[in-house]
Amino acid sequence: MREILTAEKRIQNITSVIIASKDIDLDIFDLTAPEKDFIKTSLSKKASSITINKYSHWLFFQFAEEKSSGYAINEAYRNSAFKLHKMLSREKITELQVIDVAEDKLHTKAFIEGLCLSDYQFIKYFSNKAERNFEITKITLISSRISQTEADEINTLTYAVCSARDLINEPASFLTSTQLSKDFERMAQEAGFEAEVFDKAKIESLQMGGILAVNKGSVEPPTFTVMTWKPANAVNKKPYVLVGKGVVYDSGGLSLKPTPDSMDYMKCDMAGAAAVASTMYALAKNNVPVYVIALTPSTDNRLDAHSYSPGDVITMYGGTTVEVLNTDAEGRLILADALEFAKQFEPELTITIATLTGAAHRAIGELGMAGMGNADSVTFEMLEKAGWEVYERIARLPFWDEYAEMIKSDIADLKNIGGDVAGAITAGKFLEHFTSGPFIHLDIAGPSFSKKGRSYHGKGGSGVGVRLLYNFLKNQSSK
Ligand code: BES
Ligand code: MG
Ligand code: ZN
Repeated sequence: MREILTAEKRIQNITSVIIASKDIDLDIFDLTAPEKDFIKTSLSKKASSITINKYSHWLFFQFAEEKSSGYAINEAYRNSAFKLHKMLSREKITELQVIDVAEDKLHTKAFIEGLCLSDYQFIKYFSNKAERNFEITKITLISSRISQTEADEINTLTYAVCSARDLINEPASFLTSTQLSKDFERMAQEAGFEAEVFDKAKIESLQMGGILAVNKGSVEPPTFTVMTWKPANAVNKKPYVLVGKGVVYDSGGLSLKPTPDSMDYMKCDMAGAAAVASTMYALAKNNVPVYVIALTPSTDNRLDAHSYSPGDVITMYGGTTVEVLNTDAEGRLILADALEFAKQFEPELTITIATLTGAAHRAIGELGMAGMGNADSVTFEMLEKAGWEVYERIARLPFWDEYAEMIKSDIADLKNIGGDVAGAITAGKFLEHFTSGPFIHLDIAGPSFSKKGRSYHGKGGSGVGVRLLYNFLKNQSSK
């Protein structure tokens, strides 16, 4: 992993990024008179990024962009870090210094975060990996107000996001449910939280009918991973429970998805599971004093003669019966078993995070996630605020009682699809049926994966949800 080291003295003759405010004292830098003039004229033209080529190294001045909110200013810094990273990669500059003379230290922290998140590649499957590899190895941070602990926190959190991306980008030809659980166990070991994996026999003995039904058409066994982070100094007695969808590949099953376009990238259907495990990793690594349990039901959704079929009635963990009318609405079935399992913990709050519906994707696109639930407005506002802080924004959808009418079956307790409309919400209502206590559901079908790439979120898996959940839980621990 790269180093981020705080230091007091600036290093001479090294590529430097100066996170600056408008009233910066240019005399403290080793600049010629024409260079100073150039910076001043650029500033008067409202430039926010100014580059000086010193031949042996570069100086990049990053000024705050004028934006509508402090959150948007921080986000502009993350995006400018992405632009700078392209340049570093082109010039093969692997070491640099960041000088914090910004108006607000959050600007500098956002910039470093954006830089670390931009410094990600998934090159495992290229035969010429070595040639393609570019990584920043060392960032020296010159700041009188950002501590080494804060720098470490950015480093571990962004590392956790990149671990989630690795898992999302892995095709199901490698990343089976068994492999996913192994990776979670490895992450638990590395960071110091608990992980227990239920295998197929255990899932059968618990009669988790949702997971087993989805798994019927598969040659790979399902898994169910229970992760626990319970530090002695936790501020809460009852745990926050995070539940992440771990469908390692979603073909749709007998209700087969059309291809191209809708099936090609369905290796990303475990992005919710990756997000919660990586959140646990960051919480444990950074010793955040909050008690959290994460649950990840996992299987692939395939078709063969054994597959569950439209028309089947299945019995879920806990006894609820469900009429399956579309085998492509599989996520809610495996999450339901996990939510029922979560009840024993009497959660302070339950949060599901899942690539659950195309409807959420169509409604919001890649720019944010759909959020809904029955938690009180204070809790919702705290989650939304955490979303603004890390710019993983939540678009709130209604969650009125009447939507639950749309998933009533004629022959069983529930059916697994609603009507033609409000597909993201009826999926959420289905999940709510299996919960007790306050509940929030986040549908990340839009932002979890980007075919084209989106700034520092990268191409492919974005790792969305990790910074949101980490930040929300950390804020809970200090409220
Ligand atoms: N995994 C998909 C949802 C999805 C769509 C994820 C786009 C990422 C990007 C989910 O299992 C699914 O197939 N949902 C169906 C539900 C429908 C059959 C009620 C959908 O949204 O079409
Ligand atoms: Mg599906
Ligand atoms: Zn799915």
